[in-house]
Amino acid sequence: MKRIAVLASGEGSNLEAILKAVEGGEISGQVLLVISDREEARALERARRRGIEALFLDPRSYGKREAYDRALLEPLQRARIELIVLAGFMRLLSPVLIEAFPHRIMNVHPALLPSFPGTSGVEDAMAYGVRVTGCTVHFVDEGLDTGPVILQEAVPALQDDTAGTLRQRIQAAEHRLYPRAIELFCRGQLRVEGRRCIIETG
Ligand code: GRF
Repeated sequence: MKRIAVLASGEGSNLEAILKAVEGGEISGQVLLVISDREEARALERARRRGIEALFLDPRSYGKREAYDRALLEPLQRARIELIVLAGFMRLLSPVLIEAFPHRIMNVHPALLPSFPGTSGVEDAMAYGVRVTGCTVHFVDEGLDTGPVILQEAVPALQDDTAGTLRQRIQAAEHRLYPRAIELFCRGQLRVEGRRCIIETG
């Protein structure tokens, strides 16, 4: 059973989908720790409700990003975490964390990368007028949404979509895709070769 931590800043609907997949046996791992940079994050409440350790680490108590990431490292190492899952964690990670967990940090992004990276992927895709967008689960490197792609799912952008309706359908796809990507990791089926993530099926 892989030891998983989830980092989240907000609602935590992806966390919820992951916890349900763990409970349903679709993920052969356990979520041992949830950390947030926002005290009011619903993600913390969702974890506590299930008796999972939930920590709020206040960025205002630390100067630079590196100092904050060093503070994150402590509970992650103490819990002997093997995979860090970012689920709506609204901070760019520094090398402190990325080097301590090489190809062991995942993120989900609400667009088909490399299109529309950044914090407004859904709105940017709509404003561009694409017919198809979607979501991407990728390993995290030091760039903004630039690491090797693990899985992607396409979602049509409809003419009468608002950012809200499109986001809803993309999130529904995220909730299917993220548990699958996590399970591939838990089974040791993911190998990174340069920019490419290979899924071993043997
Ligand atoms: C997700 O839609 C994800 O694409 C983005 O942040 C959102 C988090 O939503 N990175 P939630 O907190 O999991 O509900």
